[in-house]
Amino acid sequence: MSQALSSAASGGGIALPMVPPPPLVAIRDLSVNLGGHTILRRVTADIARGKVTALIGLNGSGKTTLLRAVVGEYPYRGKITYHCGHDHSHPTPEYVGYVPQRLAVDARLPLTIRDLFALALSSRPLFLGIPRWVSERAEHLMERVGMATLLDHPIDGLSGGQLQRVLLALALEPSPELLLLDEPAAGIDFKDQKKFYDLISRINQEMGLTVVLVSHDLSMVNAHSHHVLCLKNGEIACQGPPQEILSPMNLSLTFGAETQLFPHRAG
Ligand SMILES: Nc1ncnc2c1ncn2[C@@H]1O[C@H](COP(=O)(O)OP(=O)(O)OP(=O)(O)O)[C@@H](O)[C@H]1O
Ligand SMILES: [Mg+2]
Repeated sequence: MSQALSSAASGGGIALPMVPPPPLVAIRDLSVNLGGHTILRRVTADIARGKVTALIGLNGSGKTTLLRAVVGEYPYRGKITYHCGHDHSHPTPEYVGYVPQRLAVDARLPLTIRDLFALALSSRPLFLGIPRWVSERAEHLMERVGMATLLDHPIDGLSGGQLQRVLLALALEPSPELLLLDEPAAGIDFKDQKKFYDLISRINQEMGLTVVLVSHDLSMVNAHSHHVLCLKNGEIACQGPPQEILSPMNLSLTFGAETQLFPHRAG
């Protein structure tokens, strides 16, 4: 036994060296074939617990495919290991929250946000009325995303930014261990986008939630992520902290020459 270990073990008061917690998800040598094509090739990456990991790359580079493989929707070769639960020993997360790249609900349906929550949270038909617990839970979740006053608003009257917040609130119930956001702010204006990314950061910090975020907005990735994975043609081109990865050299590796980061100036 080393001196540090034996002193600590015998109550000598010397602190043991800190062992970093394992990543929530460890991806090793992951390859995915779809329709006879290799979409992902030997991807090795960690999704750090409690952090925001951004996934960037050109259209068709495999970002959505990687998210779907991580949640077991696509068959793969290689290994994906989870270290979940408070003691990190669970082999799968209890819940995964997912905000998809494309809207799965028809925003023209004649429903209010409260109705949408009722459909998502309980199996009762709407004409039987909305149980009180569902309404209370919906109010709590809508408060979390800063939209408590809009619970009885029809969904077809929501702005793009408001709708994304509703989808985010839905993804937070039941409380997920892993939150996957596939271009959650695509198509919303800069001001609402900034507010949306601020909200994701706040949720990450307050709930200690592990987030994987696909984004084409490199300024937002720079400001809101702890780690960046760059995909190019289904392979990891580079990965690391945003300050390191969003350099002209790494960006040209991922996106081609002449790509630069122009930070937004907040108004
Ligand atoms: N089910 C499928 N069968 C065959 N090919 C597929 C399938 N799903 C995706 N692909 C192909 O895999 C490649 C990667 O797709 P993917 O959706 O993962 O890219 P992406 O990086 O998310 O792109 P974008 O930025 O446009 O969302 C694309 O060439 C796509 O056409
Ligand atoms: Mg995609």
